[in-house]
Amino acid sequence: MTLKNKHIVLGISGSIAAYKAASLARLLIKAGAEVQIVITPSGKEFITPVTLSTLTGKPVVSEFFTANDGTWHSHVDLGQWADLMLIAPATASTLGKMANGIADNMLITTYMSMKAPVIVAPAMDLDMFAHPATTKNLDILRSYGNIIIEPASGELASHLIGKGRMEEPENILALVEDFFSKQSILSKKKILITAGPTYEKIDPVRFIGNYSSGKMGFSLAEECAVRGAEVTLVAGPVSLKVNHPNITRIDVESAEEMYNASIKVFPSMDTAILCAAVADFRPAEQYEEKVKRGGDILNISLVPNKDIAASLGKMKKANQLLVGFALETNDEESNALKKIVKKNLDFIVLNSLNDAGAGFKYDTNKIAIINRNGERIDFALKSKKEVASDIIDETFR
Ligand code: C5P
Repeated sequence: MTLKNKHIVLGISGSIAAYKAASLARLLIKAGAEVQIVITPSGKEFITPVTLSTLTGKPVVSEFFTANDGTWHSHVDLGQWADLMLIAPATASTLGKMANGIADNMLITTYMSMKAPVIVAPAMDLDMFAHPATTKNLDILRSYGNIIIEPASGELASHLIGKGRMEEPENILALVEDFFSKQSILSKKKILITAGPTYEKIDPVRFIGNYSSGKMGFSLAEECAVRGAEVTLVAGPVSLKVNHPNITRIDVESAEEMYNASIKVFPSMDTAILCAAVADFRPAEQYEEKVKRGGDILNISLVPNKDIAASLGKMKKANQLLVGFALETNDEESNALKKIVKKNLDFIVLNSLNDAGAGFKYDTNKIAIINRNGERIDFALKSKKEVASDIIDETFR
């Protein structure tokens, strides 16, 4: 009974895939969940409430009022009751209403009152799925912290072949089970993540920086947040946006600012993952005015920055975990092992500039994770989102 005592609101909207929602409800109940169905008016055109209420043992909620006795159905109460809201199938219209707060039916008012995480399984014709409006709405929903189950490709109700089929109920169940098991590990954990480059000022218009995009650190922050952690993301200058309400972002520019922000929050954290590419040196002096052309050679003296990882390593308590990154061009493993000791890390994530598709500017990364005992696990080249998931799985195993 993987979902024992879990309260799930299952939202159903008007797609032919609504018939699969009946199997989904049954699977959720068999796994131990209590399921309350909320269906849109057009959802009822595809599957009858009688079928659904027979499966769940609860009257299906659809209208704001029950016609015969005028009872008001409280979407607010459902929002408090649920451990999860699962919207499957979610039509293009429902996605649009969710993204834009158009609360003209019980499903959307319930969604907008929801205190629990929301998982959405879209279903629609291939052209509707490919339309930029749908892409935009899904991006907006992700930015609200909702989890989107990508539709599968195959034959659609229109007999066209393409992407738009709602994921099969068995796979949705597996995702829901996985979601709850991951949530139980990270829920309410406080995690500090540093991300991006640092800029070390030379004069009012120039700096010393590096190519870090911040993508890996932001993916880590999002993955931790989706799994229920409270994330503090200390970000160097990057153009990325944060996409989850569980993330508190602190923007910094220099290594010194990153150091100060990290040292301040670390004592209240359970874990710190230091993904930032921190400049090791900064100009000893900053010019007040823009340096002018002229003369032969401009010498800029550099002084070392503090090592944030090593400082946190010194402060670390027995119940805190510290994870560092190492980007090496040579002698990767021996350098990484030295860093584990020097910085008192629990794990180091090794990525190499020698691997195609891995490193700074890519959306993919290829990593190995090494622990304090020198044990090494190698991973394949994956998206930074998947790499983030692997890192979290290993850290909290
Ligand atoms: O020594 P190196 O810079 O290769 O170490 C990389 C690891 O140390 C990364 O986790 C990085 O975020 C962290 N680091 C730091 N402060 C510095 C330099 C590196 O936290 N000043």
